[in-house]
Amino acid sequence: MDYLELNKAAWNQRTQIHIHSKFYDVAGFVSGQSSLTEIELGELPPLQNKRLLHLQCHFGLDTLSLARMGAIVTGVDLSDAAIEKANELSKELAIEADFVCQDILAFGQTVQSQFDVVFTSFGVLCWLPDLSAWANTIANSLVSGGQFYIAEFHPFADVIQGYSYFHSIQPDIEKEGTYTENCSGDLQTVVTWPHTLSDAINALIKAGLIITSVNEYDFSPYNCFKGLKRNKTNPNRFQLLYHNKPLPLVYSICAVKE
Ligand SMILES: C[S@@+](CC[C@H](N)C(=O)[O-])C[C@H]1O[C@@H](n2cnc3c(N)ncnc32)[C@H](O)[C@@H]1O
Repeated sequence: MDYLELNKAAWNQRTQIHIHSKFYDVAGFVSGQSSLTEIELGELPPLQNKRLLHLQCHFGLDTLSLARMGAIVTGVDLSDAAIEKANELSKELAIEADFVCQDILAFGQTVQSQFDVVFTSFGVLCWLPDLSAWANTIANSLVSGGQFYIAEFHPFADVIQGYSYFHSIQPDIEKEGTYTENCSGDLQTVVTWPHTLSDAINALIKAGLIITSVNEYDFSPYNCFKGLKRNKTNPNRFQLLYHNKPLPLVYSICAVKE
């Protein structure tokens, strides 16, 4: 089983659906809105003139939003359809960006330490079999003193959907539709692995990074799981209640390379 080929085919199909979705709101982005959420916007360091690497950048909305904040951006993603659309948006909007179509773990084997910030977010770790190779990719990419930031869906959310909390070497292989509202019923074969919060933290520590903060959030900024309820006071927050109490849906980690 070539998991990269299967996931690449799935993300190529999904990209064609996503670019027309309300969920991604490309028109809003083109008109100047940021695609970033309150979580990243509240936690990212100043980005003016920082060389920033965005791992698993999909079709570039977040990468180009980070460029609008002053960063000099490079995005890497496995999907050639996503990278093609990212390049198209960069050209159309005259926002400078480099986009690379590659498996991030292969990218990490040859990358030079040249980035001030490495950024990645929402729906990224489950596609990777090996978080030690992922953390080494980050460590290899950063200059000394460089900062890493991840905001990711909490693995607790996976448990509620019937997946294992704990890591297994054997992946889940299944046919699944995508998460945008315009998902047509087409199913893609996807290959994913569960990773706990401590797996991510320990992989970063073993790669030599110093963790400076870990936060957990009782809401998702995206309405992308079954059973989410819109928060009554903040319409951009979606919560999952268990015994009437909110479950953790997102975590973030900040780290620095010595
Ligand atoms: C849910 S998106 C995450 C990006 C961002 N949250 C968004 O929604 O735009 C997951 C991305 O990971 C990419 N991906 C999956 N496996 C990858 C790999 N091994 N190397 C690089 N990119 C990968 C997919 O192509 C997809 O664009």
